[in-house]
Amino acid sequence: MPVLAIVGAQWGDEGKGKIVDLLTEKAKLVVRFSGGDNAGHTVINPYGEFKLHLIPSGIFYPRVTCIIGNGTVINPEVLIGELDQLNQRGIDTSRLLISNRAHLIMPYHTLLDGLEEAARGGKAIGTTRKGIGPAFADKTARRGIRVGDLLDPEAFREQLSFIVDYKNTILTKVYGAKPLYRDEIYHQYCRYGERLAPHIRETTVILHQAIAKDDLVILEGAQGMLLDPDFGTYPYTTSCSPLVSGGCQGSGVGPTNINRALGVFKAYCTRVGGGPMPTELHDEIGDLIRKKAHEYGTTTGRPRRCGWFDAVAARFSAQINGLTGMALTRLDVLSILPRLKICIGYELDGQRIDYLPQNIAALNRCQPVYEELPGWQTPISDILDYQRLPVEARHYVARLEELTSCPANIISVGAKREQTIHKTPIF
Ligand code: IMP
Repeated sequence: MPVLAIVGAQWGDEGKGKIVDLLTEKAKLVVRFSGGDNAGHTVINPYGEFKLHLIPSGIFYPRVTCIIGNGTVINPEVLIGELDQLNQRGIDTSRLLISNRAHLIMPYHTLLDGLEEAARGGKAIGTTRKGIGPAFADKTARRGIRVGDLLDPEAFREQLSFIVDYKNTILTKVYGAKPLYRDEIYHQYCRYGERLAPHIRETTVILHQAIAKDDLVILEGAQGMLLDPDFGTYPYTTSCSPLVSGGCQGSGVGPTNINRALGVFKAYCTRVGGGPMPTELHDEIGDLIRKKAHEYGTTTGRPRRCGWFDAVAARFSAQINGLTGMALTRLDVLSILPRLKICIGYELDGQRIDYLPQNIAALNRCQPVYEELPGWQTPISDILDYQRLPVEARHYVARLEELTSCPANIISVGAKREQTIHKTPIF
């Protein structure tokens, strides 16, 4: 059995949760490999409704082991809250393993995220203020604290001593904020460590045992390709890689172990937070999509910016991720529209281009060049066979496949598991 990476291929919120959930049924191991509690999805199943930010939804399958990988940043308070939520409703969480190499979000990270955003004023990134950026900055600057460090309280105390002094200097001298108390953080995090200890492991061992046994391993991404700090709309990005390659780095799987890379695309585009989005709709069509699809952030509740499918960005995403296929979600949402547009190029300062400019000012000046297609204006949420989709819907899907050079494996036509068309097999 292979390793399958499932990643967001636009600006996040593509509906990865449903796709991962669907494919997890056959998996032995699911590894969440990047991000932190900036991500989030709501899971509705026979056990009830759950809001999860860190724990993979694979936890609801008794045969599946879930790993929170080394590439993530973990707010232990949030994680423990999720464990409590699951335990209270009788879900066995003993199959949740946490990489000892994952970094911790500390109280100064969340504080600094808010302060740094406020200091950016009109140029704010629109972060989720969960401390993600500051935690990854500390990881790179080699002053982060890792989950495994909590298992050695004496060494942890020493580490914390230096860091809290350093952070207090920044908090008080740069931002005029109140200092934090080292001992308070220490005792609080030692309690978190005790609670999480049964879950903390060298998870690469378990991962490679599964690969050696040919079990199906799913690498579960968070956010989306266009929020990648290297290839996304930097600096309006997140702080770690949501790419398939980030799946290697954030889990310990080698690139040659990955057999399939599935990119999840919405049938249109959405974005939360600041930054360029060439196909954004500022009109009643954008409002209609937002209303019909309830496009509001799971983590922050912010309204999502809505726009037409951007095939320039999508093709780039397929290339950078090395996608072998796409899962196209929310196709049913487009049933309300008489005509559809796909962005097939940009016009930049009077010139036609077909790539995403690196420069943000240039990207902001890009005017989308659209191709128009007829809509189908009939409900499709009960259709489970691709050939039974209205011809206009099939044309729309075929055009996206063509423009991205990426075959559609899965098409989602509703929120429920069964509202899914399996167009071509993934394997
Ligand atoms: P951060 O990851 O909280 O630092 O936020 C950086 C940017 O990424 C902001 O524009 C956020 O809105 C966006 N972002 C972070 N996580 C998600 C997500 O799960 N879905 C969509 N956007 C996200």
